[in-house]
Amino acid sequence: MADNNPESFSGQLSVLVVGLGLIGGSFARALRKSGFCRSVIGFDRQPSSIVKASELGIIDQGANSLSEGVSQADVIMLSVPMLAMEPLLKQLAGLELSGKMITDAGSCKGAFVKSALAAFQEIPAMLVPGHPIAGSEKSGVTAARDDLFVAHNVLLTPLSHTDALAVAVVKKLWEVCGARVSCMEVEHHDQVLALTSHLPHYLAFSLVDTLAGEPENQAIFRYAAGGFRDFTRIAGSDPVMWHDIALSNREAVLESIDTFSEGLNRLRTAIAKGDSSALSGIFERARSARNHFATLLSRRMYMASCKEKMQSLVAGPGGSLCGHLRVPGDKSISHRSIMLGALAEGTTVIDGFLEGEDAMATLQAFRNMGVVIEGPDNGRVVVHGVGMHGLKPSSEPLYLGNAGTAMRLMAGLMAAQSFDVTLTGDESLSGRPMKRVTQPLSHMGAGIETAEGGTPPLNIKGQCTLKGIHYDMPVASAQVQSCLLLAGMYARGTTSVKSPGIVRDHTNRMLAGFGYPVQVKDDTVSISGGGSLIATDIDVPADISSAAFFMVAASIAEGSDIVLTHVGINPTRAGVIEILKLMGADITLTNEQEVGGEPVADIRVKSAPLKGIEIPRALVPVAIDEFPVLFVAAACANGRTVLRGAEELRVKESDRIQSMADGLQILGVEAKPLADGMIIHGSKMSGGTVDSCGDHRIAMAFAVAALKSEGEIRILDCANVATSFPNFVMLAEQAGMTVSVEGSNE
Ligand code: S3P
Repeated sequence: MADNNPESFSGQLSVLVVGLGLIGGSFARALRKSGFCRSVIGFDRQPSSIVKASELGIIDQGANSLSEGVSQADVIMLSVPMLAMEPLLKQLAGLELSGKMITDAGSCKGAFVKSALAAFQEIPAMLVPGHPIAGSEKSGVTAARDDLFVAHNVLLTPLSHTDALAVAVVKKLWEVCGARVSCMEVEHHDQVLALTSHLPHYLAFSLVDTLAGEPENQAIFRYAAGGFRDFTRIAGSDPVMWHDIALSNREAVLESIDTFSEGLNRLRTAIAKGDSSALSGIFERARSARNHFATLLSRRMYMASCKEKMQSLVAGPGGSLCGHLRVPGDKSISHRSIMLGALAEGTTVIDGFLEGEDAMATLQAFRNMGVVIEGPDNGRVVVHGVGMHGLKPSSEPLYLGNAGTAMRLMAGLMAAQSFDVTLTGDESLSGRPMKRVTQPLSHMGAGIETAEGGTPPLNIKGQCTLKGIHYDMPVASAQVQSCLLLAGMYARGTTSVKSPGIVRDHTNRMLAGFGYPVQVKDDTVSISGGGSLIATDIDVPADISSAAFFMVAASIAEGSDIVLTHVGINPTRAGVIEILKLMGADITLTNEQEVGGEPVADIRVKSAPLKGIEIPRALVPVAIDEFPVLFVAAACANGRTVLRGAEELRVKESDRIQSMADGLQILGVEAKPLADGMIIHGSKMSGGTVDSCGDHRIAMAFAVAALKSEGEIRILDCANVATSFPNFVMLAEQAGMTVSVEGSNE
């Protein structure tokens, strides 16, 4: 036979499928369609199923007996009900099997392995237990579909001595059927499946059976609405299969029923007592977990991530901007409002919360740790604080999507908890440097492990005693400073952080607003451990980082005159205004006021000719997120703009120096990337296709560039605009730009 590469088996293998029901039939059908195998043979104890399978073209040929089929096969797939597995395996044990690979599609791996042991006395190395997580309430060979496994998971549970090549071949067979294959321990598989598949099926069967026994059953079924139909669809599944699963995975199923009963009892008690806070907690947590679960699943799905990459923005040239615009809430403040609100005593009401994916990831993470959070509802979020020590362990790793701020700040908080936690993120976040926080946290006594290279996931140990340290930050980073201040609330003694440059100070301001004293002296911020936070209301101003896109847009598009309302102009964030003014922009602030400890204003921007400048280094940290769009301003300005001292841009959501230089060059602009900045010569811009590299701010910056380009700009991979500015396209259109979404990922 071919060598060790499963690819080289292409066109070589004969696969025998034993059991031509929905799963076996679909596997045979998909394999035939793929053309990967030499032949697909079918056997079933009901001869009529073999005949039907041949007629329907599901198999190449039928076998008259098990032994006949086995003698012709290289791979044997067992796809019979769980309780039929052991007699079948015993029959197989009496046949000549040398060199043949065996696998199965049974739902319970513990029982399957036990049956194999009973049949063979020791588990053959060529036996690869498997389970496709796919199905339908329909059964039988006539329900077989060649696409049943496409984009579905298949779990293989090889044992330590299972032959690696056999695993690779079985994996390959599932992959050619369109499935995603992963490996798992037998026991883990059974526990997970009991909860996610077996329990919901038994609940559906039991609900329908219980209601069918009620005297009112006629009326119940006649008037049953969509909820009943949705919930009970799977009660139409194959009774033999589910009977066998219940007995084969008995222990894990019983445990899952007990877990569910406890939950149902908690709900019953809350209803009986009229405890509306407990009820809201259950429903809010469930709804958001369900929604989050859906996003989380779809974000991790290969298909979906391809679709996201396919989501492009197309921005048309020309146009001017006018009117009043309110951009969404500040991302930095939104993250912090959830974190501090969750740890406070009492209820924090947040208005203007950013309903973007980054801030939502933080919100969900705290829900996963038991905090009851209502909303967001039109920007209003109500956080029922649990106090400094009230967080509960999450049963899952906390998935923080694209949000670097969430991960770095939460690293500090999580390092001080009594439980272990894992922080994970998407592809971009998983490549970002975390040593900048884990190193100083380790000096404080935290137990944190990163992946190789200092990137996420972060595995954080609970029950570590933290002690205050003094830390001299090598780079000016608000995230690092905030992380250490948050850890410092739990540390013995004082934690102080010195910064080499100005960084955004929302953490200090907000800690003070929550009644936790922070000392600021020159470039050093200090906090003493052991205090507590008192809930407070928060009005999140509009995000200056989002407003910046329209500030540049209105400056470069002739005839523009816009007012951006209620924008946060905290001096540690307002560098973009200074830089644009130095370039000649016409910007005026009105209605300046202080709201909840943060300065806000309405920002009026009229178009004006821009000129190239050397960007003062002191302004770099206070405009750090705005450089993508400032590069666009520079491309539209007269003369040369030079940015230095901004190496941080290389480790943001993308390498922002490279991503912007690449895109600008495609548009014909002379943009020279430097290790720590860029030199840009203002010039005409052509249209073209640029890649945002999955970075929200790069995507929006190029949409702004189109105002001055000669042709359309198509910007690839833009789904992440939703992380910070979910309604960007709508507001841009409203203001007078021409932007549309292509290949949206609904
Ligand atoms: C942020 C701080 C900045 C900024 C980021 C948000 C924050 O990062 O780039 O988008 O909310 O603290 P650094 O602190 O790493 O410069």
